[in-house]
Amino acid sequence: MNIGIIGAGGVGQQLATDLVKLGHGVVMGTRNPEKLEEYKTKNPQVSIGSFADAAKQPDLILLATNWGGTQNALELAGKANLAGKVVVDITNPLDFSTGKPALALGFNTSAGELVQSWLPDSHVVKALNSITASAMLNPSTFVGGNPDMFIAGNEANAKKTVSSFLESVGWGVVDLGDMPQSRLIEPLAMIWIQIGFQSGWSKVNHGFKLLNR
Ligand SMILES: NC(=O)c1ccc[n+]([C@@H]2O[C@H](COP(=O)([O-])OP(=O)(O)OC[C@H]3O[C@@H](n4cnc5c(N)ncnc54)[C@H](OP(=O)(O)O)[C@@H]3O)[C@@H](O)[C@H]2O)c1
Repeated sequence: MNIGIIGAGGVGQQLATDLVKLGHGVVMGTRNPEKLEEYKTKNPQVSIGSFADAAKQPDLILLATNWGGTQNALELAGKANLAGKVVVDITNPLDFSTGKPALALGFNTSAGELVQSWLPDSHVVKALNSITASAMLNPSTFVGGNPDMFIAGNEANAKKTVSSFLESVGWGVVDLGDMPQSRLIEPLAMIWIQIGFQSGWSKVNHGFKLLNR
């Protein structure tokens, strides 16, 4: 697939590195390509471009921006470039103002719902936000079996596309329903973060699985 990544922080960089290893073409978008010179030297197969360059990729778009900059990043990416495409929203709406991250919203809306409202002509699917970057495309590395990825979104076909992609790398997928269910999935990231905090960041290898009996 030709995949665009809007965002070039730790998540964007890790995803780009792992996606090219899986054989995908990747354009990673940033406002500051010069900050990625060392990354580019180590990852020559990853194309670096603007947010708009990433948004022009045809097959799948991954959104991995700082929450506070997400709306601006999408404007820079260009809604027209994203129209009709599946956009995986990996963001978490985190507020760092007290030093420790907390959810900035969640009872009445969610990042997933806001991203969908900012991209009314795109098919947004919430996914991959509840796991650390290094495991996003490597779910087979967990002790005790592969974890599950909880997803939400309004479009069945878009969720099918994202589910197939996630399953292809080893995720079990739990579809919680329409995009407002992001209000449940985004707090999962807080559980992940809290376990990290409690352990002094010595525990960063956890994931979630839905068990049935
Ligand atoms: N860290 C994890 O393991 C993890 C796991 C799950 C979900 N997440 C979520 O994934 C997202 C990305 O996290 P991250 O750690 O990779 O990096 P981050 O620092 O949260 O985001 C970096 C990206 O945001 C862009 N950005 C920041 N402010 C902006 C603004 N005002 N306008 C436009 N773009 C702006 C940056 O653009 P430039 O490149 O131009 O500077 C950069 O590409 C976050 O929402 C995070 O909560 C992270």
